Amino acid sequence: MSQTPISLRELPRLRTRDLAQLGGLLRPGTHTSPLLALGERFVVRPPGFPTMLVTHDMGDVRALFANNDDFSIGQVLSRFSSHDVMFGKQTMIFLDGAEHRRERKLFAPPFQAAALRSYEQLMVEVVERELPTWPVGEPFEFLKVGYDLAIGVLLGTVFGDVAPERRDRLKSAISAWFGEIESRGFLAVTLITPLIGGATLPYPPLRRRQDEVDAVIIEEITARRAGPAPAAAPVSGHRDVLSRYVGTDLDQHDDAALARNMRGILLGAYETTAITLGWIAAMLAGHPEAMAEVDAAVDTGDTDRLDAYLDAVVAEVMRLRPVSPFTGRRALRDTVINGVAIPQGAIVIVPILLIHESERHYADPLTFRPERFLDNRPSAHSWLTFGAGAHRCLGAQFALAEARILFRTVLEHRRIATVPGPVEPPRRYHTGLSPADNARITLLPRVQAFIS
Ligand code: HEM
Repeated sequence: MSQTPISLRELPRLRTRDLAQLGGLLRPGTHTSPLLALGERFVVRPPGFPTMLVTHDMGDVRALFANNDDFSIGQVLSRFSSHDVMFGKQTMIFLDGAEHRRERKLFAPPFQAAALRSYEQLMVEVVERELPTWPVGEPFEFLKVGYDLAIGVLLGTVFGDVAPERRDRLKSAISAWFGEIESRGFLAVTLITPLIGGATLPYPPLRRRQDEVDAVIIEEITARRAGPAPAAAPVSGHRDVLSRYVGTDLDQHDDAALARNMRGILLGAYETTAITLGWIAAMLAGHPEAMAEVDAAVDTGDTDRLDAYLDAVVAEVMRLRPVSPFTGRRALRDTVINGVAIPQGAIVIVPILLIHESERHYADPLTFRPERFLDNRPSAHSWLTFGAGAHRCLGAQFALAEARILFRTVLEHRRIATVPGPVEPPRRYHTGLSPADNARITLLPRVQAFIS
C-alpha cells in the first residue's frame, strides 16, 4: 500500500529572518551551522523566490539524482545566476530529459576513459613548457599557474594542432571573452538576475565576444572538414576533442552548434579546474605528512605509488574544497522523491560541502587525510564534487586525470615547501570556494637521480 507523500508544509522551515544562516553552508565549517538543528531536510521560502527544499537525507539525494525526467539543473542556474547568458540556453546543462540524454551521448565519448590516455603527453608538455617560468625559493600565487595550466591543457586537448595564426586569434578571442565575463558590467547582470525572477538579461558586449570566439572555432571546423578524413588521421597520439567529432559518427550538429558546445566546454572546465589546482597546491603546502609521502614516492621513482597517492590527494582536496559547495534541481512538474512531494517549480538543494564534512559519511571529516581514499574510491552519493546523476560533470574523469598528471609532472621537478598550520581560507562573498590568497606557496628545486 503506497503512503501519502509528505508535503513540504509538514517539514521544518527556516524562518525568513534566519535566511542569512544559509551562507554558513557555503563555507568550510558547516558542522557548526545552526541549521543542523532543523534535521536533514528543511524548507526555505525566501520572499520573491521559489520554495526550496534543502536536503542531506541520503534517500532524498539518491532519488533526486536518479530522476532526470522531472527535474532541471538549467532552471536552477537560470533562476539564480547569469549562466544562461554565459553558456547559451542550448548548451547541454540547460537541456532536460530525452533531449539532454541525446546530446550527452554525442558529447561524452571524447571525455571518457578510452580517450583520456591520448591527452596525457600533452598535459605533461604543458607543465614542462610553463614550469621554467615559475619562481623557485620565493612565495608566489599558484592559482595563477592553475589558470595558465588549465587553459594550456584545454586549448591543446580541445583544439589540437591549429595553424599558428588561427591559434593566436583563438587565444585572444577567448581571453577577451573571459575578460568580458569578469567585467563590472557583467557582474551587475549576475547580481541583478536573481532579484528580477531569473529573467535572461541580454548583455551585448558579451554576446559580441562569444560570437568572435565562435567565428574562429567555425573557421577551424571548416578547415578540418576540407582536410583528410579522420580515418586517415592517426588513431593514437594527440587526437584532440574536436577531431573526435568532425567527420565522425558523433558529428550531428551544424558548425555553429558544435562551436557553441566547444565554447561551453571551455567555460565549464576552465575556472573549476584552475581553482582545484590552486587548492591542491595550498593543501599540500599545509600538510607536511602528505608532502612527505609524495616526496618518498618521487624519490624512489615509483610512479604507480605516486599516481595512487596523488589520486587520493585530489579526491581529498575535492572533498574538503568542492568548487561548488552545493547543487540543485528544479521540479519541472509535481513529483515525489523518497516520499516527499515536490511541487512544480520548487527547487531541491543538495548541500555538497555539508555532506562532505559530515561524520555520517567520513571518519574525522575535517581532517585532510588522503589515505582515506587509497583503498576506497569516493562514493557516488557522498562525494559530490562533480554532482551526480544524468548531469554529473561530463569532464569529471578528465579533470581527475588532469590534476594527477599535472601534479605528478610538477612534483617530479619541484618540491612544495610545507607550512604547517591552517590552510588559507576560501575567498569571502563568493558562492564558489576559491583560495583567498590565490594559493600562495613556495616551490623548491628537486634534486633527483633518475630524471635525465
Ligand atoms: C575540477 C574541475 C571541475 C569541477 C569541480 C566541475 C564541477 C561540475 C559540476 C558540479 C557540475 C554540475 C553537476 C551536477 O549538479 O550534477 C558540472 C557539470 C558539467 N561539467 Fe564540470 N567540473 C569540472 C571540470 C570540467 C571539465 C574539465 C569539463 C570538460 C572537459 C567539464 C564539463 C562539464 C559539463 C559539460 C557539465 C554539464 C553536464 C550535463 O549537463 O550533462 N567540467 N561540472
